[in-house]
Amino acid sequence: MTNTVLTADRLCAGHGGTRVVHDLDLHVDSGEIVALIGPNGAGKTTTLMTLAGVVASQSGSVAIGGVVMTSPLHIRARRGLAVVTQERSVFMGLSVRDNLRLGSGPPEDALELFPELEALQGRKAGVLSGGEQQMLTMGRALASKPKVLLVDELSIGLAPQVVSRLLDALTVAASTGVGILLVEQKLDQALAVSNRAYLMRRGHIEFEAPSADLRTRTEDVHRMYLSNS
Ligand SMILES: Nc1ncnc2c1ncn2[C@@H]1O[C@H](COP(=O)(O)OP(=O)(O)OP(=O)(O)O)[C@@H](O)[C@H]1O
Ligand SMILES: [Mg+2]
Repeated sequence: MTNTVLTADRLCAGHGGTRVVHDLDLHVDSGEIVALIGPNGAGKTTTLMTLAGVVASQSGSVAIGGVVMTSPLHIRARRGLAVVTQERSVFMGLSVRDNLRLGSGPPEDALELFPELEALQGRKAGVLSGGEQQMLTMGRALASKPKVLLVDELSIGLAPQVVSRLLDALTVAASTGVGILLVEQKLDQALAVSNRAYLMRRGHIEFEAPSADLRTRTEDVHRMYLSNS
């Protein structure tokens, strides 16, 4: 039986009076990695922030674990939603150890997922490399045992081998049942780890397909959906 952990139903959202996301329908099942792909300005981050409860929806609904949510992020977090953004939301002035202690899950779980952090525990998060900060962010998020994890543009500014390491950790998390929505501009990377993908353009989902199908036609996908021309 599939267990849907995240659903958006005819979701509309934007900033101020403008609408950026139009009638968005999507779902993520437990154990699934779903990519949300689209060109710059398509509305991917706005979508993620609306699912997280950071940006208010204009109409439509979001459900986590089958329960419709209208609450802000900290309440959704208690219902099993975790978010990893481009900003790497760690406390830069605190040590890795304290960052892990302040997370809502056991530090050991984060360290099990990212043993690289073990030796860095006494160091301030602010002096870590971008990749290490992202491991800390993701380790904290996954230690909280979320039902669903939203990830925005993991690859920005990071070396390819670091990105692969982080994507591998997502695969491990998914194998334990976490449902993951991965916003990514880099098509190859997104398709390499995801089971399914939604293509977003100008605030609309243009289509949805199994990632395995899209892997065989990445050039077409680039030309038709990802070029800004
Ligand atoms: N805080 C904001 N206030 C006003 N407009 C915004 C805000 N954030 C985004 N927008 C606008 O909403 C539209 C969609 O932006 P969004 O950041 O969601 O796209 P994106 O697909 O994540 O793009 P990128 O790939 O560049 O990250 C853009 O036209 C953008 O200018
Ligand atoms: Mg974005």
